Amino acid sequence: MEVIIPNEPSQIPVLVADAICALVERKPDATLGIATGSTPLAIYDELARRHDAGELSLARAKAFMLDEYVGLPAEHPERYRNVIDTAFTSRLDIDPANVHGPDGLADDLAEACADYERRIVEAGGVDLQILGIGTDGHIAFNEPGSSLASRTRIKTLTSQTRIDNARFFGGDIEAVPRHCLTQGLGTIMDARHVVLVALGKGKSEAVHNLTEGPVSALWPATILQHHPHASVLLDPGAASRLQLSDYYREAYESKPAWQGL
Ligand code: F6R
Repeated sequence: MEVIIPNEPSQIPVLVADAICALVERKPDATLGIATGSTPLAIYDELARRHDAGELSLARAKAFMLDEYVGLPAEHPERYRNVIDTAFTSRLDIDPANVHGPDGLADDLAEACADYERRIVEAGGVDLQILGIGTDGHIAFNEPGSSLASRTRIKTLTSQTRIDNARFFGGDIEAVPRHCLTQGLGTIMDARHVVLVALGKGKSEAVHNLTEGPVSALWPATILQHHPHASVLLDPGAASRLQLSDYYREAYESKPAWQGL
């Protein structure tokens, strides 16, 4: 796991966009794993800027979302499919038919999850997965206690996550759905490169456990310690509880420029 704390936090979306551009250059039909929430928005802004500048085309790329709320009406603005349409799909030249998400409105949710796993495999697997992290240590919506080998399935959100996400629902915790479909930790671990971004002091405990704690279902993101290619990009607030932050900074400063993420 490589921990990067850039001197200038505004570099974070630039570094992630650089990695995506390098991937698409060597593999134009690459498969991206995309996250929702506030953390990746600056990355999508940077991708859109590069697309508008003629520097990036996702015309042949595919994308898979991490998760979806169960039961939110099709037109609800916070349905993750709609959030991704607005923040990502509509601003790039990716074919909307190639942007996939779990179907939180399916009659048979278990079958929808199995179907999602099949579609990821048929697409050849995820090349680069963007991740945020919850204050309770979740990635996608794998809440504490999730099996470290889990696949796409229905999960119940913790009250902490519903409190955290109430800001997207006018501050009304009761409006935040209780259930979601989410890629499992095993599904995420199959991605060839995972890039996790955490911003702000509110994430510092989760980040400390992610990078320096024991691997445990209590902090689900810790499974990434077993990933062969995991990049963790942090701003100073998110990095504020790390024991080894001086070492991470020193290692990054002396990293060869050609290496990328
Ligand atoms: C969203 C997702 C979640 C978020 C996490 C952090 O698709 O998978 O794990 O990444 O809840 O959310 P923000 O970025 O809003 O702090």
